[in-house]
Amino acid sequence: MSETKFERYTVTTALPYANGPVHIGHLAGVYVPADIYVRYLRAQKRDVVFIGGSDEHGVPITIKARNEGVTPQAIVDKYHLMIKKSFEDFGISFDVYSRTSSPLHHQTASDFFAKLLHDGKFIEKSSSQYFDAEANMFLADRYITGTCPRCGFEKAYGDQCESCGSTLSATDLINPKSALSGNPPEMKETKHWFLPLEDYQKWLEEWILVGHKKDWKTNVYGQVKSWLDSGLQPRAVTRDLDWGVKVPVADAVGKVLYVWFDAPIGYISATKELTPDWEKYWKDEKTRLIHFIGKDNIVFHCIIFPAMLKAEGSYIVPENVPANEFLNLEGDKISTSRNWAVWLHEYLIDFPEKQDVLRYVLTANAPETKDNDFTWKDFQQRNNSELVAVLGNFVNRALVLTSKYFSGKVPPRNQLTEYDQKVLDELKDFPERIASQLETFHFREALKETMNLARLGNKYLADTEPWKVVKTDISRVETILNIALQIVGNLTIVGNPFLPFSMERLRKMVGLTETEWRFSGDTDILKAGQQLNEASLLFEQIEDSAVQAQIDKLAQTKLSNEQQTKTVEPQKETISFDDFSKMDLRVGTILEAELVPKTKKLLKLKIDTGIDKRTVVSGIAEYYKPEEIVGRQVVILVNLAPRPLRGIESQGMILMAADSKGKLTFVAPEEKVDEGSEVR
Ligand code: MF3
Ligand code: ZN
Repeated sequence: MSETKFERYTVTTALPYANGPVHIGHLAGVYVPADIYVRYLRAQKRDVVFIGGSDEHGVPITIKARNEGVTPQAIVDKYHLMIKKSFEDFGISFDVYSRTSSPLHHQTASDFFAKLLHDGKFIEKSSSQYFDAEANMFLADRYITGTCPRCGFEKAYGDQCESCGSTLSATDLINPKSALSGNPPEMKETKHWFLPLEDYQKWLEEWILVGHKKDWKTNVYGQVKSWLDSGLQPRAVTRDLDWGVKVPVADAVGKVLYVWFDAPIGYISATKELTPDWEKYWKDEKTRLIHFIGKDNIVFHCIIFPAMLKAEGSYIVPENVPANEFLNLEGDKISTSRNWAVWLHEYLIDFPEKQDVLRYVLTANAPETKDNDFTWKDFQQRNNSELVAVLGNFVNRALVLTSKYFSGKVPPRNQLTEYDQKVLDELKDFPERIASQLETFHFREALKETMNLARLGNKYLADTEPWKVVKTDISRVETILNIALQIVGNLTIVGNPFLPFSMERLRKMVGLTETEWRFSGDTDILKAGQQLNEASLLFEQIEDSAVQAQIDKLAQTKLSNEQQTKTVEPQKETISFDDFSKMDLRVGTILEAELVPKTKKLLKLKIDTGIDKRTVVSGIAEYYKPEEIVGRQVVILVNLAPRPLRGIESQGMILMAADSKGKLTFVAPEEKVDEGSEVR
């Protein structure tokens, strides 16, 4: 690994949205690996700035504020502090933790936009967007709800249907409604600025596809390649919204920078906040810029932000973007809205002082190459059989024996056996090997190696049995414990990035100070004659009852989620009997059923209605297999105006009972009746 090319490092971590607390997924995916990396760099005496902050703009924050009847500023103030404290509590050692609502950031982002505008890097385009006349506001996609064109779910958002998971655009929705007034929105012209990403396509291909094929993670490279392969397009960098960085153009009233335009500039503002000498961290080719992010942020950090930096012209671009996959919790996707998460502030109440245990488990099981699962059983297992039984046990034996036989003074190293020499040689190699894994972002492997060093120590003590030899040969015991202590000393250094709290305690026990660190494999790190301080246990067992309590808590969450979704829709407005009789409902029999090609939800049915035989397209494929339903009787609304669905004309609608989760089941006569029988 060549270190020579770079003189300094700028390490950034995705700025979390300040609209909720942070959970284990955040730590595992971004902040723990970044912190490990930075702590390692600092140990190697490299010049590094470690940048973090809260992302305080964007539509979801305004929606949360509206729902809670407070200002967006009040929302971000609350969560910014909470998030900042969680990171501190877990030892995420930022040099600066800033926020995008700060005046310095607003100025920086605004200037950045103004420069691009001045240099002619944007295109201006007008388009029609949904507008709520009553609220006098253009509607962000999240502010529009309507029926999903794919699955028929009635509360789909303008950007996504949470029932079938489809990505939508607001104009796809059937019967769109404004979430502000409840009225159907109007279309209104609005002007926005776009960054023509296609202008950067060639450069991006050259830089990433050619230049970084070997050193970028395959998941990152793959995503970038697929974006580039499908061809880049202009991307809007402004929005109609009243929360965010105002567009610095005189007539751009009610317009702000798109949150994904301003947020990454937040890395730069935060660096400015940290040091007046910020430019060398952003504008010098000898600076290695590294973005730690989750996989959902890849396109922004590998395509859009680099294109922005390139357009500006005076900035460096990232040298690597080691994005992680996602962490699941007990087999389910972590979800804020379903409260399916382990919140960091709650963890610390239940497991005070056990930050390192969580850091350890999240690193050992990090979603580096694929999504991974966090389970409480695994948490307990790794604590008890790895941290306690391997690392804690070795360190404790070495320290306790030294205290017992030599009153806590590091004994001298006398005559070495061949085995001693072999162990010392192995010890020497560990730090460099771990370093090269850390340099290349292989944190799981690096942690495994660190534990292997503790295993080496355990094995050495088990093989040499100083507690037996002490009866006959004290000089031999001196040598054995000296070597064991050299392993302990090196562990405090290589273990520090992963387990900073415990390793700090351990360094105090053995009397090492930070200035002595290097990943160099020093076999004389603890000098003979040096007095050690009193030893205490580094880790303790986690009992079954403690993890069971966590498992029960999650089960409780699941239960209350289920109860909540069992809500019953309020009664609709009263209609007259005439209204009802307009509907012509008949019993029919399904004659044929097949899946509509290229869909997952739609069945094309041929139905004998008694009146005729007709085609109906129905979104029930998730719940019924075609072959199961042929011959069944159903209730069908026969006088519904025909409508095309996926190119097929659907001539009527089958009646289904839908539960609150959208699960569908047929409504049908209890006994077989003639086709064409009326339902009334
Ligand atoms: N807030 C975004 C998220 O949580 C991340 C923003 S990263 C930045 O997905 F680069 F924009 F700051
Ligand atoms: Zn849907």
